[in-house]
Amino acid sequence: MKVIETIAGIRQLRQQLTGLVGFVPTMGYLHDGHLSLVKHAKAENPSAVVSIFVNPTQFGPREDLASYPRDIPRDLSMLEQVKTDIVFMPQATEMYPPRYSTWVDLEKVTERLEGESRLGHFRGVATIVAKLFNIVQPTRAYFGQKDAQQCVVIKKMVADLNMNLEVVVLPTVREPDGLAMSSRNTYLKPDERQAALVLYRTLKLAQKLWSQGEKDAHRIRRAMIELIEQEPLAEVIDYVSIADAETLEELHEITPPALVSLAVKIGKPRLIDNIVLE
Ligand code: PAJ
Repeated sequence: MKVIETIAGIRQLRQQLTGLVGFVPTMGYLHDGHLSLVKHAKAENPSAVVSIFVNPTQFGPREDLASYPRDIPRDLSMLEQVKTDIVFMPQATEMYPPRYSTWVDLEKVTERLEGESRLGHFRGVATIVAKLFNIVQPTRAYFGQKDAQQCVVIKKMVADLNMNLEVVVLPTVREPDGLAMSSRNTYLKPDERQAALVLYRTLKLAQKLWSQGEKDAHRIRRAMIELIEQEPLAEVIDYVSIADAETLEELHEITPPALVSLAVKIGKPRLIDNIVLE
């Protein structure tokens, strides 16, 4: 496994790769959710490239950039185990040199849900992902359904800007009790870790009501909110949404595929999760 820290270095290596290149962008502090993406990238392409970069421009001024969990030696040994070919770990000073001034801004699909709660977040995500795509030049790039809106945003960017690669979205990897894996789960204290199960429980409730024939999105949202409110440690419900899976517009009557997503603050972290009603 080669670990490269400069843009010139990765460009030089990239020129030597002949076949398809699978790429997994990450912010590190890896878990089995990330590794599932890397394993697919490795299985489906002769070369797998993983980037680790805690992208400062996607964090808001009151967010956790400084305290975002980091453990590079552990990440590298995990990536080695799944036979990653190349790890790209750029410096922020090279990705965003002084007077950096070009941004990728998407309309509509960035305006609700995460975009509404985290102003500027998707501008930072789209910009860094576009830069990484330009540097790594992958054939396929792998993203997790855990960040459903991010997947919609990246697919739209790739289509709108005619980027020459395929975006592959893979299912959310969960802990045995249902909690979606996330680097931010490390912030949870033991009682909060238990309380965090309310997210998946609430999504399962939506799934159950839908499979029993309920089509009124408002009624399902209300039942979901009532269930979350029963959990005292779920301090702030940021949003509970049932939206068109492609446009992310909120639905009145559910027509599949519909994205059921929620963001809830439990202790320090703000946790997100989602399912799709098919
Ligand atoms: P990060 O949160 O490190 O996630 C990297 C990738 O792993 C994303 O595609 C994310 O959706 C996926 N992922 C995270 N948890 C997952 C889980 N439980 N199951 C499946 N996949 C999961 O997302 C980012 O970084 C950044 O925004 C990035 C795209 C790297 C741009 O900076």
